[in-house]
Amino acid sequence: MGVKSLTSISDISKVEIEKILQISSQIDKGRNQKLRGDPLLALLFEKPSTRTRTSFQAAMHRLGGASIYLDSTTTQISRGELISDTAKVLSLYTDIITARLFSHNDITDLARNASVPVINALTDLEHPCQALSDIYTIKKLKGLDGIKVAYVGDIASNTANSLMLVCTKLGVDVTLVGPSTVSPKNEYITSARKQGNVDVTSDIRKGLAGADVIYTDVFVSMGEESEKKKRLREFKDYEVDRKAMSYAKKDAIFMHCLPAHRGVEVSADVIDGKQSVVWEQARNKMIVEQAIIYFLLNKDSR
Ligand code: CP
Ligand code: NVA
Repeated sequence: MGVKSLTSISDISKVEIEKILQISSQIDKGRNQKLRGDPLLALLFEKPSTRTRTSFQAAMHRLGGASIYLDSTTTQISRGELISDTAKVLSLYTDIITARLFSHNDITDLARNASVPVINALTDLEHPCQALSDIYTIKKLKGLDGIKVAYVGDIASNTANSLMLVCTKLGVDVTLVGPSTVSPKNEYITSARKQGNVDVTSDIRKGLAGADVIYTDVFVSMGEESEKKKRLREFKDYEVDRKAMSYAKKDAIFMHCLPAHRGVEVSADVIDGKQSVVWEQARNKMIVEQAIIYFLLNKDSR
């Protein structure tokens, strides 16, 4: 329909990502961008959220707009209304939609049927706003030239998929470190390898060697609760603890999209220690989401 959406990192080019990072940097420096016309953001959420929900609502408020939060269980989606019909209706009342949905197909369906921009706030396959804010954090703290990002744990997660796409698009090397029983999602690693370098290893020492950024996420994502026991067993050797951190560069930073489980995917001394940048990372979500909304709603910014 000619409306620019962000359902996947693949929806935006390298130049567009650089533009979003540039707007983010201006906002971060205190040049708060304002949108004209008091725009309205709808947040349609099927899963829980602390950071993404709050930071998107705060971001829209800071841009001079307002937001409406819709817990999907209290909408007619819970009684079988189609996502496509929901998209058409929300487009009548609001200027932009952010959605956190179980199925990635549903976000593409939402975007196809909406006449306003749609932003993916996490699906089973992607977490693009997280990846954009994380690459902003990495750029700010480490620069992007010649660095290595090591992602440890569930190398087939939504976070891993979006992170490897954004990193390779910007020329950053990625190593995925996880058990040999788990493979990265085929279509994501194939796309990422067309753009840049992605190594995969089950050897945590080798995988973290020379890394500038160590990144992990939960071992059991939302929607995978029935596999919890199996997954915790499968990933047990991939907790980022002090020993794991010692394999990376001395000045490496530790990142986690949060929520975190201390003693599971990361030890308390690492996430609460000096190398951890998780609070800066969480803060930057609001900055970068402001930039994403601004970029999508203000054509002159592109
Ligand atoms: N990182 C992240 O998406 O956190 P929430 O689930 O709290 O939104
Ligand atoms: N992979 C996690 C990310 C949470 C922000 C999940 O989907 O639950």
